[in-house]
Amino acid sequence: MQRFATKLTASFAAAAIVTIAMGADADVGDKYGAYKVEDRRSGFTYATKETQRIQVDDFENPAMIWVDDGEALWNKAEGEASKSCASCHNDAAESMKGVATVFPKYDPKLGRMKNVEKQINICRTERMKAKPWKLESNEMLAMTVYVRHQSRGMPMNVKVDGEVAPFFEAGKKFYYQRRGQLDLACGHCHVDNPGGQMRANILSQGQSNGFPTYRLKWQRVGSIHRRFRGCNKQVRAIPYKAGSEEYTNLELYVAWRGRGLPVETPAVRN
Ligand code: HEC
Ligand code: HEC
Repeated sequence: MQRFATKLTASFAAAAIVTIAMGADADVGDKYGAYKVEDRRSGFTYATKETQRIQVDDFENPAMIWVDDGEALWNKAEGEASKSCASCHNDAAESMKGVATVFPKYDPKLGRMKNVEKQINICRTERMKAKPWKLESNEMLAMTVYVRHQSRGMPMNVKVDGEVAPFFEAGKKFYYQRRGQLDLACGHCHVDNPGGQMRANILSQGQSNGFPTYRLKWQRVGSIHRRFRGCNKQVRAIPYKAGSEEYTNLELYVAWRGRGLPVETPAVRN
């Protein structure tokens, strides 16, 4: 256990040298454009030029197929009510615009936070009388990508006060809690060491503005909760379930960390 921690610290120290060397570049302040707001930087700014190029070209971005699939599902009637999303919400470009910037949102009926995936399943079960989609199924990912894509370029802006405050605090606590055999918190990697090298990866600030994201490693789109599970497993902690209240509160906190960053869905990452 100690050995791993020491190894990590050593690679972070080495990486710090790289970061300082980069900091000497006078260009650094402006070149991130909209992908940097105050001290907050999208994962885009840590990606290789090649990965960035794939993301910004809609014809090359492999996740744009998921947007198309989401659109087809949007117009498909299902369930006992024989309704489609479009039956109630019409044009997604209008009705879903801004949704990604304000979710997770408080749901008075549930008495807790809901993310976009949860909202989609609420609409499916309660409004369409259809079966909920499994998290991480192609359908759920395509619809989440499609809904969030309607806010592309808009600044992240979740509400964290009032009735939301206790959930925000729970998410923040999770973020800074050490866990797993490596005894590391999210903040050890994504607050203290962005720019550092970890195995084949350059650590970023761990922002969520591009999710669901196409990962070249996964060769498919994955949800933010899948990413949380991966990061928990990296420190050899037992991950929570996708869709759990813990991860939804964490999602809220991470969205707040990225406040002002543009929604990039669907982003492309290593
Ligand atoms: C029968 C009408 C109806 C259908 C069909 C329906 N919804 Fe909804 N939807 C609503 C209503 C009403 C709300 C307002 C919040 C609530 O009461 O759940 C809503 C809220 C939402 C929101 C949150 C919007 C916001 O600004 O907070 C999203 C996202 C959403 N629906 C997505 C979908 C998707 C995706 C589908 C198809 C899988 C769908 N809905 C099908 C009625 C519907
Ligand atoms: C041991 C270091 C480590 C810890 C601890 C860690 N992560 Fe990560 N995380 C990574 C690496 C490596 C990546 C992939 C490269 C990058 O974007 O940083 C990553 C990526 C991410 C991303 C995707 C960023 C993007 O732009 O797509 C998010 C979100 C994230 N982490 C959140 C978290 C959260 C929340 C926690 C705590 C539960 C956490 N991470 C804990 C190493 C870590």
